[in-house]
Amino acid sequence: MVVILYYKMMGYTPLVGYKVLMFDKIPSTQTYAHGVIERGKATNRLVICAMAQSAGYGRHNRTWVSHHGNLYTSIIYEAPIRRPQIAYSVAVAIAKTLLSVGIKPQIKWPNDILIEGKKVCGVLIEFIDNFVVIGIGINIKSNPTVTGYKTTKLENYINITTEELLSRLLKNMDIWLPTDFENVRTRWMELAIGINKNVEYRGENFKFVGIDANGAIVLERDNVTHHVYGDEIRIPYLQNK
Ligand code: BTN
Repeated sequence: MVVILYYKMMGYTPLVGYKVLMFDKIPSTQTYAHGVIERGKATNRLVICAMAQSAGYGRHNRTWVSHHGNLYTSIIYEAPIRRPQIAYSVAVAIAKTLLSVGIKPQIKWPNDILIEGKKVCGVLIEFIDNFVVIGIGINIKSNPTVTGYKTTKLENYINITTEELLSRLLKNMDIWLPTDFENVRTRWMELAIGINKNVEYRGENFKFVGIDANGAIVLERDNVTHHVYGDEIRIPYLQNK
């Protein structure tokens, strides 16, 4: 592979039917996945994984600080149909992965994963051509200081290697991605924070009721229910200040 000339490649591990490309440091596993798709080299269940990234990014193009020792991965799946509900399936898969190692996770809409109210994992989902790229960053050994919300790392709770975490994650992806949405929705609601709490949506206050059968956010105000898509909801009691 040409990439070996540019980046140190740590290994190539077959893992429960996935092909895993493991790098020490690359700019971004997500950008790498884009390149693979653009070059027509993408295959279903191709995983790009790095120990560190020099140009990691998250939702809304925010920088994703990517020091050595955390999990940075982008998983490519064939996706002839774009299903936005996949965001919830991924959240449940990650939450179940953490539960499997004794951690009690919380999901913050749509798929931030928190522990004790502090963000430990972020997810970036991008549809490109006939593929979906699921970018996941999980803090294992370090957590950045971020304006606006608190962060944490797995090492505060457990000892786990990147390889074990990835392996458990992929197993859970195989369980939760094909699971019917009603079941995913039930699990998501059980694990979500902010249900029945006041949230801010586009600068206004609502009660967060949950998600509906289509994956829309259900908000309530003055006895009127609103089903909305996209954007972010802010849970005031989770902010730093
Ligand atoms: C977010 O919370 O904004 C999503 C963060 C997603 C970060 C992951 S780390 C692996 C993959 N590569 C990237 O550059 N971004 C995603």
